[in-house]
This record gives sequence, C-alpha cells and structure tokens, in this order.
Amino acid sequence: MQVAVMGFGTVGSGVVELILKNKKSIEERCGQKSLDVKHILDIRDFSSHQLANLFTKDFNDILNDKDVEIVVETMGGLNPAFDFVSKCLEAGKSVVTSNKELVAAKGYELLELAKKNNVNFLFEASVGGGIPIIRPINQCLAANEFLEVAGILNGTTNFILTKMIDDGMDFDEALKIAQANGYAERDPSADILGHDAARKICILASLCFGKHVYPDEVQTEGITNIASQDVEYAKVWGGVIKLIGRAKKLSSGKISATVGPCLIKNGCQLASVSDVFNAILVRGDAVGDTVFYGRGAGKFPTASAVVADVIDCAKHTDKRKLIGWDDAENDYVINPFEQSSSLYIRAAVTDYNMVAEKVKALFNDVQILESDNKNEIAFVTPLMCEKDARTKIESLGLEIKNILRVLDY
Ligand code: HSE
Repeated sequence: MQVAVMGFGTVGSGVVELILKNKKSIEERCGQKSLDVKHILDIRDFSSHQLANLFTKDFNDILNDKDVEIVVETMGGLNPAFDFVSKCLEAGKSVVTSNKELVAAKGYELLELAKKNNVNFLFEASVGGGIPIIRPINQCLAANEFLEVAGILNGTTNFILTKMIDDGMDFDEALKIAQANGYAERDPSADILGHDAARKICILASLCFGKHVYPDEVQTEGITNIASQDVEYAKVWGGVIKLIGRAKKLSSGKISATVGPCLIKNGCQLASVSDVFNAILVRGDAVGDTVFYGRGAGKFPTASAVVADVIDCAKHTDKRKLIGWDDAENDYVINPFEQSSSLYIRAAVTDYNMVAEKVKALFNDVQILESDNKNEIAFVTPLMCEKDARTKIESLGLEIKNILRVLDY
C-alpha cells in the first residue's frame, strides 16, 4: 500500500521516520500489507536528503497517482490544506491529518466528503498529540451520553506555566525552550493566546456531543496575562494555574465551550499535569470520569497517532470507519457567562482594609488570599452565575489586574 505525506515539518518527518523504523511491525498490524511512503510533498528544497527521490513540490503528483491510497496531511494551516485534502477525498484516497485548525474549521464538511466518497478521514493526532482520545471517544466510550470534556490541551502553554510555577522562569525564556523542542506552532501566538486549545476543544466537543462547534464560538483567553503574582496567589489558595479547554452539555441540549487559564486545586488530576504533557477528562453518564494522559506535542508522540490512523486506513480499505457529526444550529453554543462559576480576582487597591470589607459584604463565603503586598487584593468568589459575579466585581470600581475561573473539580 502506497502512502503520500504532505508537509515534511516536525510531524511529517516524524511520520516518515516512524514508518521506516517500525516497518515490520506496522505491516504486520496492517494485516500483512506492505506500507511504503511513495511521495513527500514540500515546497522546500530536500535535494540532499537521503530520501530526496521521494520529494515533490507538485501536489498533482500525489493526486494523480492511482497507487497512492492514503494521504497524510501534516502541513498545518487551512490553506492549501483544505483544498488538497478535499481533492484527495474526492479522488477516493483516505486522508489522515494532524491539522487541528483544519478539523476544527472544516471537520463537518470533510467528514461528509469522506462519507460521500466511501473513504476515511481520520484525525487522532489533531488533539492531545500522542494521547489516544479520538478513537476512545468514538469507539470505547460509544455507549455513553457525554456530559463534559475538559483538559490541558496545549503542550506549549503547559510547559510555559510549569516553568513559571516550578522554576520561577520568565515567560519568554520558557517559550523559547518550547519552540526549540518543536512543541510550539509556527506562529506561537496560536498557543499562548489559546487558539490552539480552542481548536482542540471544538474537535472534542463536536465528537462528544454530535454537532460541529466552531472556534469562534469558544470563549477563548490565553496565558499572556498571567503574572508571577497570580501564580503565587494560586499557591496560597492551594493550587496551580492551568490553561483549560472545557465543553459541557447542558440540560437544554446546548453546550458551553471555553478556553482560559483556571485555578485548579492541588490534588485534582489535572493539577499535576506538567511540562509538555496533556490530560483530557471525559465524563460519560455510564463510565463516570476517565482521564487520558500523555505527551501532547512533539515529533514522535504526534507521529505515533498519525501512523496509527494510517494503519487503521490500511485495515479499512473496503469499509469506511463510522466517525462524524452533524452541522449545528446558530445558537447551539451558549454564552458561558450565563453558567455558574467561581472566580479568582486580583485588583490594585489603595486602601486594602476598606476594599477587603467591601468584598466580604458583597459576596458570601468569599476567600481573601493573604499576601504581604497591600497594594493589591486577591480573592475567590463563591460559585454563582458568572455574569452576576462580574457585575458585582465591576461595582467595586477597582483596577482589575486579572479575572480567572476556578475549576469546580
Ligand atoms: N503547539 C501544539 C501544542 C502542538 O503545544 O500543544 C500540538 O498540537
């Protein structure tokens, strides 16, 4: 069976190396079919690479090659990936992708196209790097009604936050190390502004709840506003700050979807997830909570998931795997401010004692976080409608430095 790889970056090169390295066991797992990479598409010059004869700059070499039955898309970005993937599916080739931007924006369309052409479109590597999560949700947990899916979905930001929490490292230094290790996106703003995690929660929510959730429907905040003071106050509170993507199914049938830095109590499974590791909690009505943990980014962890999908395609050449979701109505994703939340607030003050009294009077059970710095106040509100909590906070007229959600498990 012939495979083509589009995009020879960190993940694409990992895919080719992994297929060559584990060829024997991979072919056994394909049901004794041979599996060879026939073309590698990349616009850069690889004429002195040891596999130079496989490289092409012309997508048509892949599209028009009838021997190529499986195409791996590891280019990233929406264009030209969407065009190339669509054409491959229309030409009767199965496609495997690690491209979360593509699946989050165009997953519904591409899955429909795959269905129409009786081929597979698989995307295990698009969420959680090497962690098995798409297949477990689609297959192993298929008996459940899903109530919630949430987790640490971005390795780069988790790496940065870990360095800030454990080593007191500054943001820029930690980001540089993450980039050097190949964890970060080409444009790291997608990581640090939360867009990468938003794309991933869209894919998870679409799969769990059965209707497409688009990135612009996810209320998204990154970690650029997290200061060392917030990290210290989280410690005083008894926890850590993590970037959490979360989607919940409401009794109305609608869903809420958010990405943002949250305070998490030490002892919660997600609190101890460090460095580039990701963890995803899936809550089903039958199974309860299950947590999937592993390396969420990097060359070989991500290639591991891509190649597993390639093997699955090779095993299902004459029978399409059932995976997909419907398109959604416009008001399917609700405003998360209507939901109950507990909030962490840090604000500048001139009269600490007076503001502390006002805060106590405004909220029952408020927790004021102690610090020697009396030029600012930090507190955690009780669980209440987030919109109401924000209105109350505004009424204090303070210079707000940060507002973060507190995870309720
Ligand atoms: N930039 C992504 C991350 C890569 O850091 O998690 C894996 O999707």
